[in-house]
Amino acid sequence: MQENNTPKKRVILTGDRPTGRLHVGHYVGSLKERVRLQNSGEFDEIYIMIADAQALTDNAEHPEKVRGNIMQVALDYLSCGIDPAKSCIFIQSMVPELTELTFYYMNLVTVSRVQRNPTVKAEIQMRNFEASIPVGFFCYPISQAADITAFHATAVPVGEDQLPMLEQCTEIVRKFNSVYGETLTEPGIILPKNRACLRLPGIDGKAKMSKSLGNCIYLSDTPEEVKTKVMSMFTDPTHLRREDPGHTEGNPVFIYLDAFARDEHFAEFLPEYENLEALKEHYRRGGLGDVKVKKFLCDVMQAELAPIRERRAYWESRPEEVYEILKAGSARAEATAAETLREVRRAMKIDYFENGNLLKN
Ligand code: TRP
Repeated sequence: MQENNTPKKRVILTGDRPTGRLHVGHYVGSLKERVRLQNSGEFDEIYIMIADAQALTDNAEHPEKVRGNIMQVALDYLSCGIDPAKSCIFIQSMVPELTELTFYYMNLVTVSRVQRNPTVKAEIQMRNFEASIPVGFFCYPISQAADITAFHATAVPVGEDQLPMLEQCTEIVRKFNSVYGETLTEPGIILPKNRACLRLPGIDGKAKMSKSLGNCIYLSDTPEEVKTKVMSMFTDPTHLRREDPGHTEGNPVFIYLDAFARDEHFAEFLPEYENLEALKEHYRRGGLGDVKVKKFLCDVMQAELAPIRERRAYWESRPEEVYEILKAGSARAEATAAETLREVRRAMKIDYFENGNLLKN
């Protein structure tokens, strides 16, 4: 256990469900930030989890879908610059301690509290689960608290939609510590600073990128696919002719530019504008066509995605190495989680066979 006078380790835990390839929304909303944090040198340990067990909570009948996306998500991580020498990448179900922690935490949460979790509410609606919610799905916020606390994570970099999960986790930590004594660590959330990165809309302007809506740009898309998608993006529906004044607020193309474009991109691809503000100003005034803006966005995105694509090609040709990274990462993660589970059992006084404890009071 941690001594009071030793500085607390700074630990990151985060992850993704392997239900599909990752898209540019994941990238600006979380992956990019993870790489930055990884390389900042500010953290002692970093764990990045492929949440297959969580993915099974609403894909119980399609384990092959979850299985098939594990390597894809691992490739997405590696191609974004997650470095296995600095970050431990692991598979959730290969750390069974997480399940046991979940089972103990379940007793510290009420059904009505989970029902109030806005993310769970929205997801139940999205999946038409209203009448028949799988118990496992319903409990996933609790299992997520297990994921976070098993590593004594102090920081969880995620998208904004995960905020209610972190709140719920914090409540579980407080409850556990007050009932059984100071054991678990309260996590903090790290959200991207750029507002546009919090929730990138789909290319059709819908609030969320989702595979089923077919409105995503994937990290693994080819340059041609990216071009086609960007050129077909929704813009301002009132901006019919080039001369018309346009709206940049709520306009997907400008939201993407907010998330991706930097001043260097203007110098390189569109030097007649100094920065995004100047471009927006012209669009609002009228006289700037959508095609020109989209072409620029396309250049910016290709510049951002090219190195990711290159690294993907490198790792795609080395599947055995990726396999070994996941295997070694999972073993390391399990060792850490097992240590936390020992602390938890000790705090709950259910460590019966440690030093003959069951024979003592
Ligand atoms: N819920 C996350 C997602 O939808 C995945 C996840 C599982 C996670 N456990 C976590 C994220 C713990 C952060 C911390 O992708």
